[in-house]
Amino acid sequence: MNNNKPSIALFISGRGSNMQAILADSLQPDCPYQICLVLSNQAQAAGLAIAQAAGIAATVLEHQNFPDRESFDRELLQIITAYQADFVALAGFMRILSPLFVQHLHGRLLNIHPSLLPEFKGLHTHERALAAGVTQHGASVHFVTEALDSGPLIAQAIVPVLPDDDAKQLAARVLEQEHQLYPKVLRALAQGRLELRGNQAYLDGQPALLTPL
Ligand code: GRF
Repeated sequence: MNNNKPSIALFISGRGSNMQAILADSLQPDCPYQICLVLSNQAQAAGLAIAQAAGIAATVLEHQNFPDRESFDRELLQIITAYQADFVALAGFMRILSPLFVQHLHGRLLNIHPSLLPEFKGLHTHERALAAGVTQHGASVHFVTEALDSGPLIAQAIVPVLPDDDAKQLAARVLEQEHQLYPKVLRALAQGRLELRGNQAYLDGQPALLTPL
């Protein structure tokens, strides 16, 4: 890459709307990060074409072609090293990463999840939020650790659940917030304002979740 901004690799598996929001942000002149790579574990991920159209290196690594999780993850590590990624941001990457990968990227691996964690880890978060009758829902960005959707929280966006919401309407309201939230977090990360210490994320030296971005 051609400047000194920290480089971020984005991992996707599908639609890539968060990726698209992040790519758009990275093209702003004042953006402190650059995207060095978009990687998908699914060849048919729609986000790949969007990345290519934006002139970003886009590559596919299909996990089916590897005998086990670790060998796939070793290849992932080789690729991000070759692209000199400083950070990896998971954006709809539907694949559990091994301890090998997670430990290698300690404090440099982020994920966005469509719920107010620790509520509704895993899949179908919007349906489950509606079924639970919560009045608030949202999205969380967190550092990735070995436990699924359980890493230290960095920031959350909260949306109301409205009386007539179905899962699709609620998902759209959350997604709109995801597209604002993730680029903001990545800016703070690239500016060196975010840090993982023990099991706690810090922003500007304060517990991150309690500190405005
Ligand atoms: C988002 O809801 C994200 O929070 C979750 O997967 C979805 C990905 O959507 N991890 P997109 O591919 O970014 O459009």
